[in-house]
Amino acid sequence: MTVELTGARPVPVADWVTIADLYRDPYPIYQRLRPESPVHWVPAVNRYLVVRYAACHEIEQDQERFSANETGSLMKRAMGHSMLRKDDPEHDVERRSYGGVLRPKAIKQHWQAVFEENAETYLRRFLDAGPGADLIEHFAAPYAAENLRRILGFRNATQEDLQRWSQTLIDGTGNYGDDPEVWAKAERSYREVDEAIDEMLPYLREHPDASLLSGLSGLPIPLEAVRANLKMTIGGGLNEPRDALGTTVWALLRHPDQLASVLDGGRWSDAFEESIRWVAPISMYPREATADTVLDGVLVPRGARLGVVVAAANRDPEVFADPESYDVDRPRQPHLAFGGGNHFCAGAWVARASVVGVALPKLFAELPGLRLDPDAPAVAGGWVFRGMLRLPVRWG
Ligand code: HEM
Repeated sequence: MTVELTGARPVPVADWVTIADLYRDPYPIYQRLRPESPVHWVPAVNRYLVVRYAACHEIEQDQERFSANETGSLMKRAMGHSMLRKDDPEHDVERRSYGGVLRPKAIKQHWQAVFEENAETYLRRFLDAGPGADLIEHFAAPYAAENLRRILGFRNATQEDLQRWSQTLIDGTGNYGDDPEVWAKAERSYREVDEAIDEMLPYLREHPDASLLSGLSGLPIPLEAVRANLKMTIGGGLNEPRDALGTTVWALLRHPDQLASVLDGGRWSDAFEESIRWVAPISMYPREATADTVLDGVLVPRGARLGVVVAAANRDPEVFADPESYDVDRPRQPHLAFGGGNHFCAGAWVARASVVGVALPKLFAELPGLRLDPDAPAVAGGWVFRGMLRLPVRWG
């Protein structure tokens, strides 16, 4: 495809943006960037940030011009070369290797019961921690980790291992400061995950179950690909449901009128979808321009390292009315929190089933009077991954 380059506008530079401000609260920054241009060069993060809905959507639909196989990717160093950093047809082969494990039929047959059992277990532990307990540390994080451990098939690891692996691998992926300590922890997890996989594969060949590793153990997929894809799924399948759950609870507790309507109508799906539109758990992911091209009227050079900021796209006033507000009653409009195109989140059904189908209704049913702790403030944070860092609550 040839792209007409004449008449395209140059990319503005946003040298006032800092990583610290993005981490604290990126939304005022997006409000300033969006009206000026769909794309900005942001020196602090060494990327062209794409902040409008139309431009993000265009990128997701066109892997010829915008490759997921980024040069010098930290994710490849931290986790290996997974399907998330490949284009089709290579990506497609590996994506298909996941088969039906994360899809609705398997959820109904196997994982639904696991989610219910885990919600029960961690809700008991949360109650034991007593009023004032942190909903993230004592419920959302172990619940998401144990669900993922069971789905992936790591019988030789604990949910605590999964939490540590996930966090350290993600920290490696975002290690722009090249901190040797961060690399050391990521490398340790890298080795531990590989060893755990190497131990599980022969076992699961003999004792097959419904898990992802079991499905992969019988396929002619290179071991390196299995290892990289599992690490990517550990990094991508734990924090996101944890953060989606935390943000939804926080938003509902701050909007009692909306909470009443959700409780009344069992509208957990509305509460969840609006929450991940409002605060996308993965707010930015990378792509690379394969040629000089025009994106939404702006000239993007070949080799440009792009950051697709779905968090900014999800609050684009061109698409969402009153976008800064959390509003479970807004007309359903497709948000981009699960990405789009060929890399659309493979775990979206798992996330919805575990958070919407089990955790949210159970939490509010078993903790009547759930409310924010007036003595300990809730804290949100994060840029590439964003969610509640602390969510102390009371009940009864
Ligand atoms: C609310 C929860 C979640 C959110 C917001 C989310 C978001 C995303 C996004 C934005 C992408 C695309 C990234 C890109 O294109 O570079 C993605 C990909 C992916 N996600 Fe999720 N995710 C969630 C939960 C999960 C869960 C629970 C799992 C696994 C059990 C999972 C597994 C994956 C995998 C394997 C991919 C790679 C797909 C591919 O490359 O084809 N995700 N996710």
